[in-house]
Amino acid sequence: MSVHSQTRRTSVPQLMARKGQEKIVALTAYSAPIARLMDGVVDMILVGDSTAMVAYNMRDTLSITVEQMAAHAAAVVRTAQQPCVMVDMPFGSYQESPQQAFKNAAHMLAVSGADGVKLEGGEPLAATTQFLVERGIPVLAHVGLMPQYVNTMGGFRAQGMSDESAQRIMQDAAAHQQAGAWGVVIEGVAESLGRQITQQLDIPTIGIGASPACDGQILVTEDILNLSGGRIPRFAHTFADAASVITQGIQAYADQVRSGDFPTKDNCFGVKKG
Ligand code: KIV
Repeated sequence: MSVHSQTRRTSVPQLMARKGQEKIVALTAYSAPIARLMDGVVDMILVGDSTAMVAYNMRDTLSITVEQMAAHAAAVVRTAQQPCVMVDMPFGSYQESPQQAFKNAAHMLAVSGADGVKLEGGEPLAATTQFLVERGIPVLAHVGLMPQYVNTMGGFRAQGMSDESAQRIMQDAAAHQQAGAWGVVIEGVAESLGRQITQQLDIPTIGIGASPACDGQILVTEDILNLSGGRIPRFAHTFADAASVITQGIQAYADQVRSGDFPTKDNCFGVKKG
């Protein structure tokens, strides 16, 4: 029996059934230690391409590769047994054609064992969503503020502030629903728009800087644990100060190595304890 068939993960249909019933709790994870800590607590883990900025300190999300995303997703899937795991399609891995998207999505799922993919894009990418879904790949769409469009947007700016822009984002979300997406991440939009999209769609919306009315919420884990080097977006909140605890541990280790208090005999081989 394979490792995957022994796990009891929350499935995509189970998340879809939460619409209007129970909030979906989602966070990002890129590594085994963080995935371990959220197993049994969150409903969905996103191995987001924010990996580029958070784990590799890149300027934006554009430079992370399919192989890097697949490796991070594999670490998360191996470790967290219960949440549904989605992996982001990185920039340049799906925009060229639906066929290119399928090839890269299938590869990432084969390498990692993740349950589906997320892709950023408006209505023009709905045909790609349909192509993937018809071939067995669950798709979580991502509309509104789309970090992979940072260069065309001229920065990471909230979207949907004008009637015209709000209308377009509404159409983007509806087009992905029509194409078979199981859910939509709505990022960085006016609260009223996040609420309206949630009311109009039959599939779950997962908000990040969108609206409390969304069917679920997602944040970057490092942002809520004060591990992002102080650059926390307005829509996030520090729920615990892991940075202080980790800094204390590192300092205590350094102090004891310098003073000769560590290692003790208990940490050595071939030495009688006490
Ligand atoms: O890359 C990412 O982490 C994301 C979200 C936080 C939604 O897309």
